Amino acid sequence: MDTSPADRGGDLHLDLSAGRARGLGLRAALEDALRGTVREGRLAPGTRLPPSRTLAGDLGVARNTVAEAYAQLTAEGWLTARQGSGTVVAERAVGEGVAAPALPQRTPAARYDFTPGRPDLSLFPRTAWLAAARRALTTAPNEALSYSDPRGRIELRRALADYLARVRGVRTDPERIVVCGGYTQGIGLLCRTLRERGAAAAAVEEYGLPHQQRLVEAGGLAAVALPLDAAGARTDLLAGLDVGAVTLTPAHQFPTGVALQPARRAAAVAWAREHGGLVIEDDYDGELRYDRQPVGALQALDPERVAYIGTASKSLAPGLRLGWLALPADLVEPVTRQKLLADGHSGAFEQLTLAEFITSGGLDRHVRRCRQHYRRRRDLLLARLAERAPAVRVTGLAAGLHAVLQLPPGGLSERELLQQAAWLGLAIHTTTGNRAPAAGPRPDGPPALVIGYGTPPDHSFPAAVEALCRLLTL
Ligand SMILES: Cc1ncc(COP(=O)(O)O)c(C=O)c1O
Repeated sequence: MDTSPADRGGDLHLDLSAGRARGLGLRAALEDALRGTVREGRLAPGTRLPPSRTLAGDLGVARNTVAEAYAQLTAEGWLTARQGSGTVVAERAVGEGVAAPALPQRTPAARYDFTPGRPDLSLFPRTAWLAAARRALTTAPNEALSYSDPRGRIELRRALADYLARVRGVRTDPERIVVCGGYTQGIGLLCRTLRERGAAAAAVEEYGLPHQQRLVEAGGLAAVALPLDAAGARTDLLAGLDVGAVTLTPAHQFPTGVALQPARRAAAVAWAREHGGLVIEDDYDGELRYDRQPVGALQALDPERVAYIGTASKSLAPGLRLGWLALPADLVEPVTRQKLLADGHSGAFEQLTLAEFITSGGLDRHVRRCRQHYRRRRDLLLARLAERAPAVRVTGLAAGLHAVLQLPPGGLSERELLQQAAWLGLAIHTTTGNRAPAAGPRPDGPPALVIGYGTPPDHSFPAAVEALCRLLTL
């Protein structure tokens, strides 16, 4: 038999005083307090309420008063009376009328999930990772389990310096690397450091990570929007903006998918040199390029003017919360101080495991496998769209885990599209959610979708693409 805290007696806290102070009678005050408790979600759906006799005893009211209050709330749909199991909180009652919390909402369960930014989690190399973890823990000195260098384990910093030089062309060394909790923490550490040094604002790409602007603001800097065009971010405009830094996604603009063109790369570095600015390179999916060699890191153009941020979130799994900064020499000390203040250092065990995974060649093998897997998915998506929805223009497909679908004019509005998608069991996102608030509202025009083709599990991928095609041909 399941029990709830309330069943175990007496610990359902109900405050009747507010209702009484408003002049309500005992029963009405009790109903009011119960309604509030359920509405605000303090009792989860299915929670069993105390028997009326118990609650009456706790509150010092007549049993009938409680029984009548339960009956009233049952009639209103807040509670359900179940034969043999008393009175329980109704399934759909929680959350009604409650303001949405400021935290990100969990994506409602959709049959076909095209949420961008996530890898196919079924690809995570569990066996190889476990083997690396075993080797790492077996060989780690006891000292590794203590507090250590805020920059991270030297084993991982060495492995990353080699790996990033080889795979992304990054020019760094282990002393300039700071291991952090993904891009999310890395950008915060950098912004707080810049703020400390007197910067007031940073430019963010007009379209980007949905909370990119908020990350910059949380680091103490104002965000200024930098326009995009077919050659990538308009870095040629930086000199006209009063900013101390710019965040860019040069290898694969998120979400448009454009690779920052050489002249724009040069313009970013020239601006940083002339104005004492910092370019922050978000290399979130740099290894996942399909048609030719990966586009190298912008950081190589000037390691003293570009701070590079990489992450394990696309190549391995976002749940690892592992990222890394390759820093200009003068930022190592202040960023390390920010990292120390933030959380001491990242977890040693995951760091040692990743170091082992990289040095044993596990990451190279895994990334190669991922590339084949995602290329197959991308090709299937592209072929089906060409066949079923030829008027849809697909961009950004050369790399990464997402594509942008520009819908032709004259079709459904964005609202209608999202509504129809929900009917078809599809979780989809439009570029509206990627627009930095500082850039102002999205210009009028047909909706554009950001389709994360890494997200659906393998077995349902073809069906998910079919459902998407159905939506695009409505
Ligand atoms: C543009 C961009 N940058 C960075 C990240 C990775 O963030 P993190 O390393 O904090 O998981 C993502 C993930 O969705 C992204 O889309």
